[in-house]
Amino acid sequence: MIDKIRQLTEQTQAFTAKSAAEIEEFRIRMLGKKGELNALMEQFKQVPPEQKKTLGGPINALKNAIQEKLATLKAGLESAEQGPQSDDLSRPGSNDRLGARHPISLVKNQIEAIFKRLGYTVAEGPEIEDDWHVFSALNFPPEHPARDMQDTFFIEKNPDILLRTHTSSIQVRVMESQKPPIRVICPGRVFRNEAISARAHCIFHQVEGLYIDENVSFADLKQSILYFAKEMFGEKADIRLRPSYFPFTEPSAEVDVSCNLCGGKGCNVCKGTGWLEIMGCGMVDPNVLEACGIDSKKYTGFAFGMGIERITMLKYGVRDLRLYFENDLRFLGQFDSAIGG
Ligand code: PHE
Repeated sequence: MIDKIRQLTEQTQAFTAKSAAEIEEFRIRMLGKKGELNALMEQFKQVPPEQKKTLGGPINALKNAIQEKLATLKAGLESAEQGPQSDDLSRPGSNDRLGARHPISLVKNQIEAIFKRLGYTVAEGPEIEDDWHVFSALNFPPEHPARDMQDTFFIEKNPDILLRTHTSSIQVRVMESQKPPIRVICPGRVFRNEAISARAHCIFHQVEGLYIDENVSFADLKQSILYFAKEMFGEKADIRLRPSYFPFTEPSAEVDVSCNLCGGKGCNVCKGTGWLEIMGCGMVDPNVLEACGIDSKKYTGFAFGMGIERITMLKYGVRDLRLYFENDLRFLGQFDSAIGG
């Protein structure tokens, strides 16, 4: 009888099953009414009492071993049904979808990289500003229309707290806290109270630049912008400056870059002119330097400012501003994150 118990224990240990049916078959053979274990129990009843002592333990151990085996086989079968876990460790894994950088971030990084090569550093500032840093220090007359409720999102009135309408406010903070020579670019989000359409949005992004030192001239400004245009739009890019007006620069200009889509011949993007407007610029008004504690007799400087959405539109042909904010993966997935790091 002890041989039979040993034999059944070995069979139990060696048993494997590929299906629930096989497990059930094994259970019936071992634990069923007419199964091996019951047969053993019948024999056990017949043996003399002194032998019962030596046989009781092994029979119990066999019963436990069978029950344990059934439990582990069942558990293994269930987890195999649930997932792709199999013994095949060479199966290829499932890929996670990689994200892409937002086109605005890509172009912002490119603009920063170009000006860093010219020795500029990056400065940032708060989006919620006061009247001084957005308007007053920048020589805006008190009645200037840009202060109007129509353009500016005011948070509090008297004293005015508002969302910055341009990142020139960062330049004021830099001028107040640093001594010339100053060479910074100021990227950031800006806010204007405009109705949202394909061509206008109440949130957009700017990069503004500021260079202040002794003997900085308009020629330096022009050359820096020409360098930027060629780096951004290619060696063939050309620029032209048109006289303009900003309260904080004198003289002021608007910069056009030659249309990179038609090579200057005229197309529907440049409306047949061959030129595309990309930024405003000018020599920093002495009033601004003085308001920020910089000696305007000793120092001169230039400033420029551009919209990142506009540059992105020209580089990638994105015609609708709203696409930048909708987070549609079909749009965002098209941009190569390798460009501009
Ligand atoms: N701050 C101006 C704007 O938001 C851009 C600008 C910056 C123009 C610097 C001239 C010089 O429109």
